[in-house]
Amino acid sequence: MEKFVVNGGKPLFGEVNISGAKNAAVAIIPAVILCDEPCQIENIPNISDVSLISRILQQLGANVRRINKSSLYIDPTHIRTCNATTELVRGMRASYYLLGALLGKYGNAKVALPGGCNFGVRPIDQHLKGFEALGAETRLVDGAIIEAKCNGKPVGTHIYLDVVSVGATMNIMLAACKAEGQTIIENAAKEPHIVDLANFLNSMGADIRGAGTDVIKVRGVDYLHGVTYSIIPDQIEAGTYMCAAAATRGCITVNNVTPKHLDSITVKLREMGVKITEYDESIQVDATVKPLKRCNIKTMPHPGFPTDCQPQFTALLMSVPGTSIVNESVWDNRYQYISQFVNMGAQISVEGRLAIIEGGAPLTAAPVKATDLRAGAAMIIAALQINGTTEISNIQFIERGYENVIDKFKALGADIKKVYFTGDNEAELRA
Ligand code: EPZ
Repeated sequence: MEKFVVNGGKPLFGEVNISGAKNAAVAIIPAVILCDEPCQIENIPNISDVSLISRILQQLGANVRRINKSSLYIDPTHIRTCNATTELVRGMRASYYLLGALLGKYGNAKVALPGGCNFGVRPIDQHLKGFEALGAETRLVDGAIIEAKCNGKPVGTHIYLDVVSVGATMNIMLAACKAEGQTIIENAAKEPHIVDLANFLNSMGADIRGAGTDVIKVRGVDYLHGVTYSIIPDQIEAGTYMCAAAATRGCITVNNVTPKHLDSITVKLREMGVKITEYDESIQVDATVKPLKRCNIKTMPHPGFPTDCQPQFTALLMSVPGTSIVNESVWDNRYQYISQFVNMGAQISVEGRLAIIEGGAPLTAAPVKATDLRAGAAMIIAALQINGTTEISNIQFIERGYENVIDKFKALGADIKKVYFTGDNEAELRA
């Protein structure tokens, strides 16, 4: 069994380079299906979710090759099936983008229901509503596979989303990209990765306007040509290191970021007393200047505070004396990890969508597990605060979305390693 072992109690200092955005990459890679020529995608994070979606494309018949650590060559011109129903597909949430991409290109798709992090019910009714509005018939086959089928091409339409959904917005953009006529998506999500997907599709010749606002207009085109495209930096990975620096009262520079994408996080850190200095493509986070103050956060769709940074920020709030309140308004059940913090001595109670944190309680080392990707990152941030040795298990969740997490934290001065446990024996694994 692999674990992370963290000896905490030291502030982080130094620089960290942020990788390409996971949630953009896992949409842009399947989006290449729509292209009529090969593409090269750059600034791809080297994480297991990217390997998984790449292997799924290969199963469909695409030629996917890694050109270097952060670039993929994808030739979709030999895709031979619209059936994506293997175990690999079930293993990741973002496989739902295969529905939009295959439907948009071939007019039909059969995709196994997605897996991914478990924080309560994760419906895809808004995706299906969009496909149906575009003229597809959708049905659930054997309780485990979604089939979407058009009579010919999807046909442009007007869709009003009942909830602001990142996945539904991107999936409908994919399905509408080559449709007949214009599709208007209202109440669309506005996350940076939505703009990135639209920019990628437009660079191939698509006609998408309004991405980043709540009304997106997609005029269908017949042909998409091959491009070389570079993915945006990962907003959440950057936010994670920013929280870690503040939680350990360190001072770090986070490189390869778009500071504007981090506004909702920097505003909160500043409110707490962290000194933030923004540069063109980097940001300095200095928590050495004055004692930090408690604060409240409420997660919201972009440009609100990102739910994917909620557990990491909670780990930071545990270190600050006073009562802080976290309000999770995006997901029904994203507090499963709190019991792990309580095992470390944190004083946190959960009441519905609120987590009430009595910060400043002394934390002690305890074995904890990553209950999902961001919760796993939050366990590292908690462990970095503790004078003692914390073992974090279920690290496969963390590796789904964080590239070289051990090396990046080590470069900031953290004492962290990945070990393989067999009974009483422990062997350190090197990346
Ligand atoms: C994306 O998930 C991200 N995943 C999630 O990041 C992120 O937490 C989420 O957006 C919100 O920002 C990927 O991009 C692969 P949603 P997604 O559709 O698209 C409800 C991470 O840690 N809803 O925006 O699946 C839903 O239940 C992951 O990197 C419906 O009701 O999220 C939720 O309450 C975890 N019906 C809310 O909308 C639908 O059809 C937002 O979900 C779709 C969603």
